[in-house]
Order: sequence, then structure tokens, then C-alpha cells
Amino acid sequence: MNTRLTLLSSLVVLGAAGCATPSTPATYVAASLAPASGSTVTGTVWFVQESGGMLVVRGEVRGLAPNSEHGFHVHEKGDCSSGDGMSAGGHFNPTAMPHGPQAAPHHAGDLPSIVADASGVARFSVRTSGVVLGGGAGDLAGKGLIVHANPDDYTTQPTGNSGGRIACGVISGVAGRDAAGREQPLPQITM
Ligand code: CU
Ligand code: ZN
Repeated sequence: MNTRLTLLSSLVVLGAAGCATPSTPATYVAASLAPASGSTVTGTVWFVQESGGMLVVRGEVRGLAPNSEHGFHVHEKGDCSSGDGMSAGGHFNPTAMPHGPQAAPHHAGDLPSIVADASGVARFSVRTSGVVLGGGAGDLAGKGLIVHANPDDYTTQPTGNSGGRIACGVISGVAGRDAAGREQPLPQITM
């Protein structure tokens, strides 16, 4: 299992080569997004640990309005039970930072907004720091993942003013699987 996982990850990285020196992801976990607040938004997001402390967030989210932009964050609780995403709590913020963009001090859980294409599908692959797999204050295991109705302004505290929560998921702590235990093979999404 581990050998296969490592080989698969290496192949994905090699496939993405051409812009930077490949690094080998140690492992990855997944989150399956389910609709919230009456939306039809679903998706799968993968979190891939890289050497050097960076983490790649790769995903595909469907059911969005065509060409729309949506705030996207890791939230502190892996609880989607309220149906409107509010049970996931506030942004994951283990280092007591303000809300902000990647290029400035920000909550560890602050991610770049996702953008849907004309078909309402957002595909993305971004690097972030401050969150990790496998332990420590920034550990993603069991945290929530939220897609918001509106874009993140990266300024309004502490939320980014990105409106309601239209999809919610729980980030798994088990390599290669989502929080429901389903295998979620890492797709090749390169940007
Ligand atoms: Cu959020
Ligand atoms: Zn935030």
C-alpha cells in the first residue's frame, strides 16, 4: 500500500514537471464536499504534503454558478451537521493571525478563492503553508473545509466577508482516503 502510494504520487509529480524541480509528496489526505445551505455544490479536495513544509491543495468542485468566485477555507471544526456549514466554526487559526491573503499574515486555514469555469466547475492546485499532515498545531486531520457563496475580500476580519457556506466537508486523517473512509486516488490536476 505504502509503496504503491509513493509510486503513484511520484508519477503525478513527474507528470506535473516542467515548471519546477519535482519534490516527492510524503502522503496525502482527502475531503469530500457535500452541499450546504440548499446548494448543489459537491467536490473532492486533496491535501498533499511536500518536503519543506509546503502543502498542495488540489481539487475539483462542481455545481457552482458559471464563472463565479468563492471564498475557500479550512475551518476549525470537522462538523458539517448543521446543514448550513456553521457547525464547522471559524477559520482554522492555530497561530492567532488575522484573516488575509497568502502573501500576508493570514489564518493557516485561509486558502485562495476558487473560481468556476463556464460549466460551474472549479479545478485548482495551489501551494500553501501553515497547515500540515501528520501532527502538530497546523494538523489538518479532522478539520472542516468550507466553500462560501461569495469571493473572499482577504481584508474583512475575521471572515473575508465571503457570505454563506454552500459546501462543507471533513478533512481525513487517513492517507489516501476521505473522512468517510473512501479511497480517493490523487488526480492529476496541474495549473
Ligand atoms: Cu470559510
Ligand atoms: Zn481566515
